[in-house]
Amino acid sequence: MQLSKIASSLGQSATLKLNELAANLKKQGKDIIHLGGGEPEFDIPQKAAEETLKKINSKRVKYTPTSGIPELKEKICKYTMDNYGIETAPANICVSSGAKQSIYNFLLCAVNPGDEVVFPAPYWVSYTEMVRLVYGQPVPVKPSEGLLCSFEDIERHITSNTKAIMLNTPNNPSGLIYGPEFIERIVSLCEEKGIFLLMDDIYNKLVFGGINVPSAFSFSKKKIDESNIVSVNGVSKTFSMTGFRIGWSVASKSMTSAMTKVQGQITSCPSELSQAASIGALTEGDAFTKRMIKELEEKRDALVTELSKFKKLKFEKPLGTFYSFADFSAYNPDSSKLSAELIEKTGVVTVPGAEFGVDGHLRISFCGKKEDIVKGVNRIREYLDGK
Ligand SMILES: Cc1ncc(COP(=O)(O)O)c(C=O)c1O
Repeated sequence: MQLSKIASSLGQSATLKLNELAANLKKQGKDIIHLGGGEPEFDIPQKAAEETLKKINSKRVKYTPTSGIPELKEKICKYTMDNYGIETAPANICVSSGAKQSIYNFLLCAVNPGDEVVFPAPYWVSYTEMVRLVYGQPVPVKPSEGLLCSFEDIERHITSNTKAIMLNTPNNPSGLIYGPEFIERIVSLCEEKGIFLLMDDIYNKLVFGGINVPSAFSFSKKKIDESNIVSVNGVSKTFSMTGFRIGWSVASKSMTSAMTKVQGQITSCPSELSQAASIGALTEGDAFTKRMIKELEEKRDALVTELSKFKKLKFEKPLGTFYSFADFSAYNPDSSKLSAELIEKTGVVTVPGAEFGVDGHLRISFCGKKEDIVKGVNRIREYLDGK
């Protein structure tokens, strides 16, 4: 029996693979410091725990409406107003089993086989494979300079086959933020050419120094129900709730209804228990996230101090997320080899830049414990620069 072509050719998620590797090595008793992770090590919000327990104690955990519990959708509408400044109705929201499913729902609704989906590199590891899963053509665009594409870099890759642009800002893996002018021009381009714009806003609250992350909706000339913008968000990062698997999309009613139909045939609905927890998280809201941002900022600063001590490293200070993407090419331009060598020789896990479409770099996360970040980066430096 032969597997389908898509199943045989699909790449495994690099970051999930590294999580497994790190866990296995630790189990074997190796002294491993995992700086390749993608989840905050904070406890979940108190109210999320309370709502989960309340739901469990009711002993009634059932299917919910496909696009989510009305109360959660109301909370998401409020979140969207508070954070994006746009009025939405529950019919604009589809709650999913993680932002990843929201992106996949979107791709299934937007992309025909062979359509091109353009996105800047470095990109989140899953984008290429998710586009391939819907038989689309991923078009990653490398910046002509630095780690952020210019508008012209993107525009150059738009063809008559372009169906969507996907933008993730603040960005995984660079920790950098696309500016308002860039977003505004991308929104205009998409509106002019009838291209969908998927905004992956999963890190939109995780920014340092009060930087404003503009919402694409704020630049649109269209009302939400005529809009070609789809914004994706969730509780995984902002509320440290990766294990609950709750994300959502904000889009026009017609797109939301199509995404809901798709989701209904794939997962029926997101877990009721996790939706209850998410209601708790959104009720607790900014109070929780602010505490987390403060700690993450301290960790970011500790990481930057350590990175500054390398002899031949180039990096830009992350302005959001919990990732840095430093240029190690002066040590070894092959990031996959370097990352594997670092695990073997120093026990420190990083993610090779090649997985994000930009070789020569390593993604180093600062979502773990501060002492691990300092110790891990020190180990790498002592190995590469000598003691
Ligand atoms: C850029 C980006 N988008 C989406 C996701 C998926 O989030 P979720 O855990 O809600 O599926 C991640 C998770 O790492 C991410 O980094």
